[in-house]
Amino acid sequence: MRVYQTSDYQAMSRQAANIISAQIITKPNCVLGLATGSTPIGTYRQLIEWYKKGDLSFAEVHTVNLDEYVGLPGTHDQSYRYFMQTNLFDHVDVKPEWTNVPDGMAADAQAEGGRYDQVISGLGGIDLQLLGMGHNGHIGFNEPAEDFPLGTHRVDLTESTIQANKRFFASEADVPRQAITMGIKTIMQARRILVVVSGEDKADIVLKAFRGPVTPKVPASILQLHPDVTLVGDKAALSKLAAAGESVCG
Ligand code: GLP
Repeated sequence: MRVYQTSDYQAMSRQAANIISAQIITKPNCVLGLATGSTPIGTYRQLIEWYKKGDLSFAEVHTVNLDEYVGLPGTHDQSYRYFMQTNLFDHVDVKPEWTNVPDGMAADAQAEGGRYDQVISGLGGIDLQLLGMGHNGHIGFNEPAEDFPLGTHRVDLTESTIQANKRFFASEADVPRQAITMGIKTIMQARRILVVVSGEDKADIVLKAFRGPVTPKVPASILQLHPDVTLVGDKAALSKLAAAGESVCG
């Protein structure tokens, strides 16, 4: 694993955007796995800026997003499809029909998971998967569990995730209780993985995930077994990992 430590959120976003744009420049027709949450927003903003300057094009890129809430249509302002439209897709030259987000309104969410995995394998797999991390170590919506879920599937959200995400909804009752998420196998099959973390409140889980035992109780810990992971975090988020002796650059 490569670890880049940056001074703050903005520098983290720029570093992560650098890695994504290097991926697009070296393979213009790459498949990008994308993530939602507050952490990647600055990364997307930086990519949009470079696109507008003419330094970057998404014209040949396919995208596959990690997850979506069950029961929210893409027009709902808290759906992950809507998030991606407003934070990235609407501002760059990606072809709308080449962007993929699980369908939260699919009549059969489990079948939607199977369809989604077929879309990914039909594209030849993911070249670079961007990931944020929840406070309990969830990646996508793979919550702490007794075993690692494999393919894209429907999941019940944990109380801690519902609590963390309620800030985006009018009330806690409005937070969906289920999601469709890429599974651990889907994520681990990506050729490269880029994890972004920011803020002191992530320092404990970053330490657990990257220095603790590999266990489905901390889903992100599986990333220790992936051959090509880059972790980009600000000083605050990496403070405990660095204190534990992990070598960091930057
Ligand atoms: C949500 C998303 C995850 C994301 C996590 C952390 O639960 N499903 O993909 O990593 O939030 O979000 P944040 O970056 O806002 O801390």
